[in-house]
Amino acid sequence: MRRISGFYQSLIGKKAVVACTGLVLLGFLVLHVIGNLKGFLPPAAGGEPDIDVYAHFLRNVGEPLIPHLVVLWGVRIVLGTALVLHVVTVLQLAAHNRGARPIRYRGAEHVAATAPARWMLVTGCAVLFFLILHLLQFTFDALGPPIAPRANFGCVYQNLWEAFQHGGVLLFYVAGMAAVGLHVFHGAWSALQTLGIDNPDRNRGLRAFATGMALFLFLAFLSLPVAMALGVIPEPSAYSAACSASAA
Ligand code: HEM
Repeated sequence: MRRISGFYQSLIGKKAVVACTGLVLLGFLVLHVIGNLKGFLPPAAGGEPDIDVYAHFLRNVGEPLIPHLVVLWGVRIVLGTALVLHVVTVLQLAAHNRGARPIRYRGAEHVAATAPARWMLVTGCAVLFFLILHLLQFTFDALGPPIAPRANFGCVYQNLWEAFQHGGVLLFYVAGMAAVGLHVFHGAWSALQTLGIDNPDRNRGLRAFATGMALFLFLAFLSLPVAMALGVIPEPSAYSAACSASAA
């Protein structure tokens, strides 16, 4: 235990924690966006939107062996812990850097740093702000009209559809996904460097991976909201009666 705590106290230990938790959160984003893309699939057997069936599956995964919601809460606890560790450790590193350089450089301070690197703290705060409002909107149903029409539990397709009929909500998601993209663009590359995976022979590929990941998340996350806002996919009323009855 003392070894783990000693490792965490060191700068390299903190950087490794930021890198590993960042990669765990990146993994979550990839799974989340794949789940969202199910919004484009035709209705499942029974006429329910495929994305609703998927959300139902997530809540019941493991049953009957594992009780209802237990797996979901297990995943939430792991992700929540990763997020808290990521944020707290980044803040500690930022405080350390500021403490190590009490007098700020003037002028050409950022010669080697790329813009996304300098903006990591800013984009990180923007992602956190987005996440808080996002959870209040869809998970806790705490925002209310007109920002977010009352979310109907289990009716994910309908909830999304109604939310993205509002231009302001769509704009907020575009800005949020831009922050996510910029954060991942530098963060994924930086994490691979911290973990020592970078190497002159591999760096082009690793850079391409980070850029591809950022672009994929930005475009794939926004594809469903934009398609719903433009009405190029079916309205919820075209799907199962249970959810569309309350859509009016
Ligand atoms: C256009 C982008 C996004 C859309 C349309 C979207 C949509 C949704 C929806 C509908 C839910 C609730 C699902 C349900 O009721 O079961 C949800 C949950 C969630 N989303 Fe997103 N999401 C987006 C981007 C993001 C991003 C970028 C993050 C992280 C930074 C994120 C983190 C979460 C989390 C943590 C949950 C709660 C999962 C749970 O514990 O149940 N989402 N999202």
